Amino acid sequence: MSKKLLLEKAHVEGIRFFDVYRREGGYQSVDKALKSMTPDEVLEEVKKSGLRGRGGAGFPTGMKWSFLAKPEGVPRYLVVNADESEPGTFKDRYLMEFLPHVLIEGIITSCYCMGANASYIYIRGEYAWIPDILEHAIEEARAAGYLGKNILGSGFNCEIYVQRGGGAYICGEETALLESLEGKRGNPRIKPPFPAVKGLWGCPTVVNNVETIAAVVPIINNGGDAYASIGIGRSTGTKLISACGNINKPGVYEIDMTISVEEFIYSDEYCGGIANGKRLKACIPGGSSVPILPANLLLNTPTGEKRLMTYESLSEGGFAKGSMLGSGGFIVLDEDQSVVQHTYTLARFYRHESCGQCSPCREGTGWMEKILLKILKGKGTIQDIDLLWDIQRKIEGNTICPLGDAAAWPVAAAIRHFRDEFEWYILNPEESQTRNYGLAHYADPLEVVA
Ligand SMILES: Cc1cc2nc3c(=O)[nH]c(=O)nc-3n(C[C@H](O)[C@H](O)[C@H](O)COP(=O)(O)O)c2cc1C
Ligand code: SF4
Repeated sequence: MSKKLLLEKAHVEGIRFFDVYRREGGYQSVDKALKSMTPDEVLEEVKKSGLRGRGGAGFPTGMKWSFLAKPEGVPRYLVVNADESEPGTFKDRYLMEFLPHVLIEGIITSCYCMGANASYIYIRGEYAWIPDILEHAIEEARAAGYLGKNILGSGFNCEIYVQRGGGAYICGEETALLESLEGKRGNPRIKPPFPAVKGLWGCPTVVNNVETIAAVVPIINNGGDAYASIGIGRSTGTKLISACGNINKPGVYEIDMTISVEEFIYSDEYCGGIANGKRLKACIPGGSSVPILPANLLLNTPTGEKRLMTYESLSEGGFAKGSMLGSGGFIVLDEDQSVVQHTYTLARFYRHESCGQCSPCREGTGWMEKILLKILKGKGTIQDIDLLWDIQRKIEGNTICPLGDAAAWPVAAAIRHFRDEFEWYILNPEESQTRNYGLAHYADPLEVVA
């Protein structure tokens, strides 16, 4: 049974409300930090914990905070990225909906550490019911003296504001988010300058994911070393995984990153196996942007070890034979699923969400969508596969923001691992219109990769 640091109390009745949360030990990290620690000591614990950003890239949080510029007389901000629009990812929603005070508590302690007196939670517009939950929690925290001026008599002031997002995936990219927060169209900014130097309204800003900030609570409560002792390698602490697709038990799970992918998929504690007795075909392990992996490469590393649910293990083998933990959106495909169809759906999504600032992304995403549709309709040619490959290569690394890469990687991985499936659509134009590509070329999940 994985250790739970964030979701342990998720099922306590009324935990959404301050009194119950407090009774269960809530806000101790704020008490501890404000009464007995300096901001630098809080930073030291976060660095020691080895916490890595939970929004997708896995950048070390303590290091990010230490980059925050501190010019005299200029305000600093903490912006919490609750945009969560990555297909397959819904773990922040769970945290905010059921444990809003964990986020509020984490924000206060983090702001204290950064010397920020204001924080903004930028929340996905489609999560229409959650801002009310957060705002209620904020008011409760204020009434109890944890927000506002001179918190707990420490002289530290802190305010939290909730901002509803505009409904665009690109607004999850941190600089697009800042633009949107400033009331402008959510177009990513060219970096540098990075937000830590010039962020919200030109002021030094840290942008962190909801889960990252929530993790600050157990780090301060138990100490950075205790947090780092959970997990393995540079994958310390626990990670929330939102699991969906063809599994028996879709949901949000907190894992301690030492378990294997196989255990995560097949154990009753987590996904409970593939639904309807089907076989595992493939999985997108870290949200729609990361490379898809066929069953054998998902369960085993290229050297034949069992793959673990860690940043390192999931990426072992590079993009040729690995993927990424990403945001933890774990999408499982069974033997009846068509990878070509899935890739087309994703290509359509990225074309729609491209902000259009850079031509490789603006034009390339549209071309990929069109070619994939042509193949799906049984009108493709073998050259189209090569053309697709060429287009995705020309997008990757050539754009202002990583949405271009996010659009390119799924296409590249699908061709790399399932080229035969693309060819089947092309070589069987009539049959492909009457049935989905099944699993004729399925790789046995337990087969160890040579
Ligand atoms: C297109 C795009 C969408 C993104 N969406 C999100 C998101 O919804 N939530 C999130 O935390 N990070 C998202 N990110 C990553 C953010 O830019 C940023 O790296 C992250 O919020 C940093 O927080 P962390 O260090 O705590 O992970 C997205 C990035 C890109 C390129
Ligand atoms: S990569 Fe795409 S989404 Fe990002 S700035 Fe360029 S056009 Fe916009």
